[in-house]
Amino acid sequence: MAIPMDFNSRRLKSQPLSSPCLKPGASRSFSGDNSLQAPEIPKTRSPSTPTSDTSQPPTRLDLADAPHISSLSDRTSELATLEKWIVQEKCTLATISGLSGIGKTALSLHLIQKIQHNFQYVIWRSLRHSPPLETTLKNLLKFLLNQPEIELPTNFPDGLSLLMEYLRKNRCLIILDDVQTILSSGQLAGNYRPECESYSIFFRQIGETTHNSCLILNSWEPPREITALKGENSPVRSLQLKGIGAAAAEIFRQKSLLNPETWENLINTYRGNPLWLKIVATTIQEIFRGRVADFLKYDMLFLGEELAATLHPQINRLSELEKKLISQLSREANLVSIEQLLQDADFSPSDLFDGLQSLGRRSFVEIEEQENETLFNLCPVVRQYVISNPVC
Ligand SMILES: Nc1ncnc2c1ncn2[C@@H]1O[C@H](COP(=O)(O)OP(=O)(O)O)[C@@H](O)[C@H]1O
Ligand SMILES: [Mg+2]
Repeated sequence: MAIPMDFNSRRLKSQPLSSPCLKPGASRSFSGDNSLQAPEIPKTRSPSTPTSDTSQPPTRLDLADAPHISSLSDRTSELATLEKWIVQEKCTLATISGLSGIGKTALSLHLIQKIQHNFQYVIWRSLRHSPPLETTLKNLLKFLLNQPEIELPTNFPDGLSLLMEYLRKNRCLIILDDVQTILSSGQLAGNYRPECESYSIFFRQIGETTHNSCLILNSWEPPREITALKGENSPVRSLQLKGIGAAAAEIFRQKSLLNPETWENLINTYRGNPLWLKIVATTIQEIFRGRVADFLKYDMLFLGEELAATLHPQINRLSELEKKLISQLSREANLVSIEQLLQDADFSPSDLFDGLQSLGRRSFVEIEEQENETLFNLCPVVRQYVISNPVC
């Protein structure tokens, strides 16, 4: 049986390295501005490549599918949490979820740099084209087996058994990026597209069986297994990524913005989302020559075409129930309770609970506890988007 042509054999060859391999962790440095410098991670490394540490076998890396790594501000605690889960507590399945641009990809690239030496194999794949599970399994197996002459299973049960065997015998770190592409539009968060349902079996098997490896999923929303399986005493964990806070000032410094006394206001409004902040900083640089105070004189939340375009696919995939609910939330003046929402709009309690939970998992809704009452609010940028682009 021939190996399918969709394998990118370029990734699998041991390529000569343009720069010497770094000892894991060696290039990580925290600068005074609280930013984590982009480390140099060789894109591929064969087991035979020498490292300066001879006490442990070298890690075999395949990051050919990963984007370029850049510097990172204010993710020290998230990196420490993930390292604790994965290295100390041997968690087998972890999700990093959050809105587009919040930094899932960047964080997991830095995590690899930090923990790769604990693994024999590290492999990164993006699911950006919603590949069927069979393709993903073959792709992973091809790297792990590294024997082009071996025929790989073409059906997913056999492919999955073989992969699980490898994950038991070896310590592998697999990162799947853009996992939202295998999840469905028009349904509550975490459901699969019909042609990708079998990923559910894959993730469940990784999370429920005993093995020595870890799978990290980066996604706008966690797949439904994760919410069912995760827990403090479970090998399945979930990290919902929030904004980067005051350290986002580094982004503004890089864009040469002025009026630093106003930056906190800007960071709060855009909830510390690094991509949103980069987009707005560019506008302020181009239109106001960097004068943030002048931009803020216009008492409105500016989205602009570029930022709206990042939100569009995320809003578009909501279920009808969620669209109705974010419309209602965009009309509420401020934080609102469940009781108030039931009074203001025509939802059954059960629909309302489902809708709020799903919007929370997608990071659209902010939840606050005030005097023993749970209050909900739309993230300001999402509110502005819904006001300017009514969804129903
Ligand atoms: N902590 C951070 N500090 C500075 N820039 C960041 C940080 N996290 C992400 N970025 C930048 O923000 C942009 C979006 O990050 P990315 O990781 O692609 O987001 P996501 O994968 O969640 O969509 C990228 O340009 C990235 O370099
Ligand atoms: Mg990403």
